[in-house]
Amino acid sequence: MRLRDKVAIITGAGSGQGRAAAKIFAREGAVVVIAEWNEENGRQIEKEILDDGHQALFIKTDVSNEDNIVALVEEVINRYGKIDVVFNNAGIGFSANSEYKMASLVETPQTDWNSILGINLNGVYLLSKHVLPIMMKQNGGSIVNNASLNGIAGVTGADAYTAAKGGVVALTRVMAVDYGKYNIRVNCICPGAIDTPMIAEVLSVPEFAEKFAEGCPLRRVGKPEEIANAALFLASDESSYVTGLIMPVDGGVYAL
Ligand SMILES: NC(=O)c1ccc[n+]([C@@H]2O[C@H](COP(=O)([O-])OP(=O)(O)OC[C@H]3O[C@@H](n4cnc5c(N)ncnc54)[C@H](O)[C@@H]3O)[C@@H](O)[C@H]2O)c1
Repeated sequence: MRLRDKVAIITGAGSGQGRAAAKIFAREGAVVVIAEWNEENGRQIEKEILDDGHQALFIKTDVSNEDNIVALVEEVINRYGKIDVVFNNAGIGFSANSEYKMASLVETPQTDWNSILGINLNGVYLLSKHVLPIMMKQNGGSIVNNASLNGIAGVTGADAYTAAKGGVVALTRVMAVDYGKYNIRVNCICPGAIDTPMIAEVLSVPEFAEKFAEGCPLRRVGKPEEIANAALFLASDESSYVTGLIMPVDGGVYAL
């Protein structure tokens, strides 16, 4: 019960890493707020957690929409009176059904650039902006941002995504410095390739999966639970003296 009685908002908890984190956080005693724009998936994960005898609440949220974020934060405070943990995880990337073009800078239409930054970077800004004043009043809280290896290494071919994730890394550091005096910790995970719907199409190409495994010290892609466990550590009091950390969870790729 490493998150006993903590109230934790997880964005993008309807799939992949966010879904895994929702299950693990709930099992560890948290009240998990599923902030997700896909209603079907959000309600499904809420049901699974409740059926397991844990606590969860789905609130339909588009993290790039400030009105949605204000409503989310208000509802959580009205119901539970506090927010201990935020896992800023929602993001869009390489998925087959992504509406947005993941491409080099020259080939990225401005509308797609704006949408990708609007979700992957502005989403972190917006929820943090509305949660930080509450955590300041509480004199405590833990924010975990989910960036990407793209945010710390020159991974090509998805330049808007890479710029957004680099922004999340930079924002993590400055938030950690600015809000440490309120006992608020802000840390960032940089996943490598993780087996979720986001990169399912890429992983279904055998040559890619094999080539990736060859280039990864641990010789495999990661599982969503492996990111969720890192998020659990950073969310919990076990990491009480850790802030401003940019943590690759990538099978060793960043060490190369
Ligand atoms: N899968 C990977 O290899 C990988 C690698 C590095 C970083 N990441 C990052 O990890 C995070 C989680 O991705 P995943 O792999 O679990 O992918 P996923 O596609 O399985 O899950 C992403 C979730 O975010 C939700 N979402 C997207 N935009 C949203 C919005 N505007 N508002 C609310 N919810 C929204 C989606 O509906 C989905 O449920 C993302 O930020 C992603 O960029 C993924």
